[in-house]
Amino acid sequence: MLRVCLLVFIAVTAQETCIPNPVGEIELLADKQLQWAPSQNCPNTSYRIRITTQNAREFQTTVPGLNFTVSFMMYCQSYTFRIAPIANNVLGEENYISADLPLPGSVDVAIQGLRGSLIADDVLIEWRIDSTYTNCVDYYHLFIYDDDREEVPEYLQVTRPGYLLQYVPSCANYRFEVASHYEQFNGTTEKTNYTVPAATNKPSLVYVSQSATTINTTWSLEKYDLNRCEIIALHIKGGTRFNVTYPIKDTEERQNVQVSVGGLRANSMYYFNVSVENSAGVSEAYQMAVQTLPVEPSPGVNTKIQ
Ligand SMILES: *[C@@H]1O[C@H](CO)[C@@H](O)[C@H](O)[C@H]1NC(C)=O
Ligand SMILES: *[C@@H]1O[C@H](CO)[C@@H](O)[C@H](O)[C@H]1NC(C)=O
Ligand SMILES: *[C@@H]1O[C@H](CO)[C@@H](O)[C@H](O)[C@H]1NC(C)=O
Ligand SMILES: *[C@@H]1O[C@H](CO)[C@@H](O)[C@H](O)[C@H]1NC(C)=O
Ligand SMILES: *[C@@H]1O[C@H](CO)[C@@H](O)[C@H](O)[C@H]1NC(C)=O
Ligand SMILES: *[C@@H]1O[C@H](CO)[C@@H](O)[C@H](O)[C@H]1NC(C)=O
Ligand SMILES: *[C@@H]1O[C@H](CO)[C@@H](O)[C@H](O)[C@H]1NC(C)=O
Repeated sequence: MLRVCLLVFIAVTAQETCIPNPVGEIELLADKQLQWAPSQNCPNTSYRIRITTQNAREFQTTVPGLNFTVSFMMYCQSYTFRIAPIANNVLGEENYISADLPLPGSVDVAIQGLRGSLIADDVLIEWRIDSTYTNCVDYYHLFIYDDDREEVPEYLQVTRPGYLLQYVPSCANYRFEVASHYEQFNGTTEKTNYTVPAATNKPSLVYVSQSATTINTTWSLEKYDLNRCEIIALHIKGGTRFNVTYPIKDTEERQNVQVSVGGLRANSMYYFNVSVENSAGVSEAYQMAVQTLPVEPSPGVNTKIQ
C-alpha cells in the first residue's frame, strides 16, 4: 500500500516539473514574421517573446503558436528577439537571434507635408517621412531658393526633418526643395513655394529743417533686406490743414524721401502724421511737431542799421 502511494507521487511530480527544451531555429522573414521550431518535450507549450532594440526599448508577449508578426518593426534598426518556451508555468531556457529589417531595394523614402510657417522673423521649414523609415535616413538635402533674386540656391544637409530660416524679409518669395538621403539613394524631391506675409513699413525721420514758411523733412524707409513689400506712397497729414500724398516708385535701394511743405505761417507750430503705404497697407504714423521760424528782417532793414 505504501509503495503504491509513492509511485503515484513520483508520477505526479515528474509531470509537474517537465522543463520545456529551448525552441529550435528562429527566423525573421521579410514580411516581419518571426518563426521558430517548436519545443517538443512537454505538452501544451506556449512561447514568451521578448523584443529589444539597441536603444533599450522592450516589448513582451506570449503566444501559443510558432510565429508572431512584429508589425511595429522599423527599418534600419537592429532588434534582438528572445524566445522562451513555457509549459505548465515552467519557463524553459531562452534562445535568441539579432536581426534588422533592411530597406527593400525599391523603396522611395518620400518627403510629405513640406511647408513653411512664420515664427516671429523666421520661417520654420518642416516635413515628414513615413516613420518606419526614420532610422534609415542619413540626412536631407535642402535647397532654399530666394525667388526675388536669381542667385544660386542655399544648399544644406540637415539631419532632422526641419530647419529654421532666420530673419526673412516681409513679402519675400521662397521656394524650398527637400529630398531624403539614405544608403546611396535620394528619395523623390518635394517642392513648395512660400511667401513671407506682408507687413507695413514705418518711416523714420532722418532730418528736418525749417524756414518761416517751409518745413523740409527727410525720411528713411525700412530697407529691402527687412521688408520687400512694394512701397506705393508717403502720406503726410496735418489735421485739417493739409493732407498730401507723395507717390513713390520703389527700388531695391530704398533711398531716403525728401518732402517739402510750403506756404506755412511764420512762428507757428505744426503737427504732422507721416505714414508709408505699401502692399500691406498704410503704416502706423510717425507723429511730429515742428515750429516755423519767425519772419526774418528784410535785407533793406539790415542795410539801414549798418
Ligand atoms: C494549456 O495552457 C494554457 C495556458 O498556459 C491553459 O490555460 C490551459 O488550460 C492548458 N491546457 C491544458 C490542456 O493543460
Ligand atoms: C502562424 O501560427 C498559427 C498558429 O500556430 C498558424 O495557424 C499559422 O498558419 C502560422 N502562420 C504561418 C504563416 O506560418
Ligand atoms: C542626390 O541629390 C543631391 C542633391 O541634389 C545630388 O547632388 C546627388 O548627386 C544626388 N545623388 C543621387 C545618387 O542621385
Ligand atoms: C512656385 O514658384 C515657381 C517659381 O516662381 C513657379 O514656377 C511655380 O509654378 C510655383 N509653384 C506653385 C505651386 O505655385
Ligand atoms: C527746403 O528744400 C528746398 C528744396 O530742396 C530748398 O530750396 C529750401 O531752401 C529748403 N528749406 C529749408 C528751410 O531747408
Ligand atoms: C495723428 O494721429 C493721431 C492718432 O491717430 C491722431 O490722434 C492725431 O489727431 C493725428 N494728428 C494729425 C496732425 O493728423
Ligand atoms: C486725405 O486725402 C485722401 C485722398 O487724397 C482721403 O482719402 C483722406 O480721407 C484724406 N484724409 C483726411 C484726414 O483728410
